[in-house]
Amino acid sequence: MMQAFSTRSLRVDENGEFWILDQHALPQAQNWLPSNTVDELIGHIQSLRVRGAPVIGLAASVLLAVLAAQGLGQAELRQSCQRLRQARPTAVNLMNNLAVMAKAVEQVNYPQALAEAAWQLIQEDQALCAAIADAGLTLVQPESRILTHCNTGSLATAGVGTAIGVLARAHQAKLLKKVWVSETRPLLQGGRLTAWEMGELGIPYQLLCDHMAASLMQRGQVDAVWVGADRIAANGDVANKIGTYNLAVLAQYHKVPFYVAAPSTTLDPQCPNGEAIPIEQRAADEVRGVSGSFGACNWAPDQAPVYNPAFDVTPAALITAWVLDTGVYRQPPLL
Ligand code: MRU
Repeated sequence: MMQAFSTRSLRVDENGEFWILDQHALPQAQNWLPSNTVDELIGHIQSLRVRGAPVIGLAASVLLAVLAAQGLGQAELRQSCQRLRQARPTAVNLMNNLAVMAKAVEQVNYPQALAEAAWQLIQEDQALCAAIADAGLTLVQPESRILTHCNTGSLATAGVGTAIGVLARAHQAKLLKKVWVSETRPLLQGGRLTAWEMGELGIPYQLLCDHMAASLMQRGQVDAVWVGADRIAANGDVANKIGTYNLAVLAQYHKVPFYVAAPSTTLDPQCPNGEAIPIEQRAADEVRGVSGSFGACNWAPDQAPVYNPAFDVTPAALITAWVLDTGVYRQPPLL
């Protein structure tokens, strides 16, 4: 059986039941949702109740271990693995973690192999986050005012996070003056989740609408931009939350360093460049209005045609450095 454990957003209890923290309801409510079937977890991943590249890979891995403990056979586990792999197309951590789990499914004692593999992936992610924070700290100047986008913290990983892990470490080292948090339309991961995490960490922050970043940089108020990644291609191009590319273009124009923090589980050496990264298109209603634990509101016409890619691609040429668990890279190749 998968051992009991708890991270910020994933939990297996003493009875072997799997729960995820509903990130849709945050920060207004902290609700844990059962996730004991493939349908349940795919629903949670697609609705972004569990989200962030590292943690969706870990959630899928834990579920396979839980299903094996419930008595699912190897054929059903292979099929479950295949379905989970397709839950979201951009974050390669999901595919990378499931490749590890697929090998465990083929072991003679596969329930134990799956439980061990899932636990190892969780511990590995915690160690990767800590190593990213160590590497990133070397780039943070005293009195920094850092802009971050989307949410890359303990909700999105099993550890301290990636870009937010660096910010947390820099705050401990008293290097941060403040963090600018972009709200991250359409699903507001910045406004809801990063703002909440900044408060929890005691980091001084100010929230802004995404399109306010340009005037902020023009006024010399941003010393660096730190973001995470959902997939890094072999040439260093980075897919991350929609709006990341805007910030990279602005940063270059205003001569502000632009850093990408990610674990090596986010690298996709088989993917030659950003054009080859699949980008998820999401539901029109996310842009026509907004919904959450506070309710739902559509302000656009009901049938307004919508463009809603979940991610964009930032070309390597706009990135000052990639900060991985293995160190700081000023140019590709990254390992
Ligand atoms: O759609 P989301 O909320 O899963 O997008 C998340 C991001 O873009 C993060 O920056 C990325 O997954 C890195 S999380 C450590």
